[in-house]
Amino acid sequence: MAQNWTPGSWRQKPIQQVPEYPDAAALAATEATLATYPPLVFAGEARRLKKQLANVAEGNAFLLQGGDCAESFLEHGADNIRDFFRAFLQMAVVLTYGAQLPVVKVGRIAGQFAKPRSSNVEVQDGVTLPSYRGDIINGIEFNEASRIPSPERQLDAYRQSAATLNLLRAFAMGGYANLENVHQWMLGFIKDSPQADRYRKLADRISETMDFMKAIGISADSNPSLRETDFFTSHEALLLGYEEALTRIDSTSGDWYATSGHMIWIGDRTRQLDHAHVEYFRGIKNPIGLKCGPSLTPDNLIELIDALNPANEAGRLTLICRFGHDKVADSLPKLIRAVEKEGRKVVWSCDPMHGNTITLNHYKTRPFERILSEVESFFQIHRAEGTHPGGIHIEMTGKDVTECTGGARAVTADSLSDRYHTHCDPRLNADQALELAFLLSERMKSGRDEKRLAIASA
Ligand code: TRP
Ligand code: MN
Repeated sequence: MAQNWTPGSWRQKPIQQVPEYPDAAALAATEATLATYPPLVFAGEARRLKKQLANVAEGNAFLLQGGDCAESFLEHGADNIRDFFRAFLQMAVVLTYGAQLPVVKVGRIAGQFAKPRSSNVEVQDGVTLPSYRGDIINGIEFNEASRIPSPERQLDAYRQSAATLNLLRAFAMGGYANLENVHQWMLGFIKDSPQADRYRKLADRISETMDFMKAIGISADSNPSLRETDFFTSHEALLLGYEEALTRIDSTSGDWYATSGHMIWIGDRTRQLDHAHVEYFRGIKNPIGLKCGPSLTPDNLIELIDALNPANEAGRLTLICRFGHDKVADSLPKLIRAVEKEGRKVVWSCDPMHGNTITLNHYKTRPFERILSEVESFFQIHRAEGTHPGGIHIEMTGKDVTECTGGARAVTADSLSDRYHTHCDPRLNADQALELAFLLSERMKSGRDEKRLAIASA
């Protein structure tokens, strides 16, 4: 066990991005209540995910992580969850087929409620109020009452997470994710998009293969791996009081686990070595992520790895790189070299969203070509360094939103206002997400072919 660590030892450290709750006693009472509630996930599941991520670290699988920037209380409906899950399954199938590797499926969902902000206050028409920090903390409406942090919101977030996770488990294990349904995952509005044809062709090939396998006696009825999928949850563990209340000892191993989600990550704004978030994370055994932005130096990174993964366990640590399309070539290679030189086992994942945000017509947006460009660079750099481009981390929705510009069915600067619904950052719509999956699958296919050629000529 980590030395001198308790689920609350982070409280002795300096901390960034904390909301100012007006009533400390009410906050403590809510945390005490949460501490009596059942865990949302089971430690055995977190260990299973860690094993699958170890497989990614070793170059034998690919990580797909995605979902909302921020979940909201208002959009907590079955349709939203189903549409997200469908779009996610489509991406997963496209990637599995292209990479011919297992795809580890992790949603940014069922707990992704707290947001770090660049400023503590927001000014509108000369009025200054505290910034919105996510539905688990305060309300998005721009008025004084809604922006006051309220502890009860943590109980609502907990309950919403439980309900969302319940439905996702049902989808993943109860037949919805059956590969025999591969055609039915096509969302209504994608049917007439440029991606539809490509997807239909791929789905046809999978159906054909399934029919062949059925003929020889391998069917979804008798093979759970054809009809079920492992789906895991993740979020940025920013609100440490909430996380602490859900930190529990696993009775089988005697270790501490965060039970608010299977995987949690540290944001780029809260990764200071001697601060509270790193302190909390070092003591829990879940697989964890660390967001890496342009300000992270190779020495910083190695110190953080020392603190967060001292046993150099594969699958424990995923480095989620979010540099920006114009900075990735500068920032990524030196980090990869430092990690390789020190022999550290990590999963390299690419977040092509957060470094590519711009403002157009007063909307925060992300040009799809810059997102693709960062992904392309990420793959090229790993190819050049001889390391595994292990995964992708995206903000996406199953809805037909207009938040990121571009894509094959181009969202323009002027159409951003049509269906701009995000509570925080702009997300890829289902169409753009699928287009990205096809691009990735092509990159992985060519990587595979290169490897085969190299082996054949060796
Ligand atoms: N169980 C396998 C997996 O999760 C195959 C599978 C079943 C699958 N349903 C799926 C793959 C849906 C992708 C999408 O990889
Ligand atoms: Mn975001």
